[in-house]
Amino acid sequence: MKKCEMLYEGKAKKVYATEDENLVIVDYKDDATAFNGEKKGTIAGKGVVNNVMSNHMFQLLEKQGVPTHFVEQLSERETVVKKVQIVPLEVIIRNISAGSFAKRYGVEEGIVFSQPTIEFSYKNDELGDPLINSYHALALGLATQEEIDKIKEMSFKINEVMKKYFDTLNVILVDFKLEFGKTADGTVVLADEISPDTCRLWDKDTKEKLDKDRFRRDMGGVEEAYQEMFRRLLGETL
Ligand code: TMP
Repeated sequence: MKKCEMLYEGKAKKVYATEDENLVIVDYKDDATAFNGEKKGTIAGKGVVNNVMSNHMFQLLEKQGVPTHFVEQLSERETVVKKVQIVPLEVIIRNISAGSFAKRYGVEEGIVFSQPTIEFSYKNDELGDPLINSYHALALGLATQEEIDKIKEMSFKINEVMKKYFDTLNVILVDFKLEFGKTADGTVVLADEISPDTCRLWDKDTKEKLDKDRFRRDMGGVEEAYQEMFRRLLGETL
């Protein structure tokens, strides 16, 4: 499978057409942004970690019956995925208070919820990805009721699978963001990535952050955190 023209360049990935109209190649970059692109930087090796980790998670989820866009990893940074139409909703699942939840509701980080929460953001950089509810999403025609119901059901299932898996790595899954896409026949599949860019991951014993919050909050040890997650997932270093 070889890359044809570039279709899209996002903040963290490039997407290329292939000779198969139903498949595209994603190419993960080391570029990092935060706060809707206001903060910019580079995290050396991030593209490799995020590509390999996402594919690892997608394969685990597929085994548990969750359909994803994953097809085949081509190289350290490149993966063939199904071409999908991205549903313009960012789905955020939280198990523990942190980030914008803690800020919005004036609570400390680290409160363990009795059950997970779900929220949606409207995926729109110009508007700064505003929080949106399912009625608003329906009114704007972003998805159908059936698609929203499916996305919710899949997101909670993904949380259960991921929580259990990260626990075996001595990692707490605090929260994460998912994106879904529709294939040519309208099937809703998990898309985008699952990586330290899109999850909050804390060491179970020390509560040390092993994710992009180290970059967002200028905490240092950013590359090391990504490498540590890679090591725990694959038992090897890059
Ligand atoms: P938040 O607390 O800032 O709303 O973030 C919740 C989760 O979503 C966290 O794991 C980081 C992830 N996230 C993204 O993947 N992309 C984004 O643009 C934002 C704001 C958060």
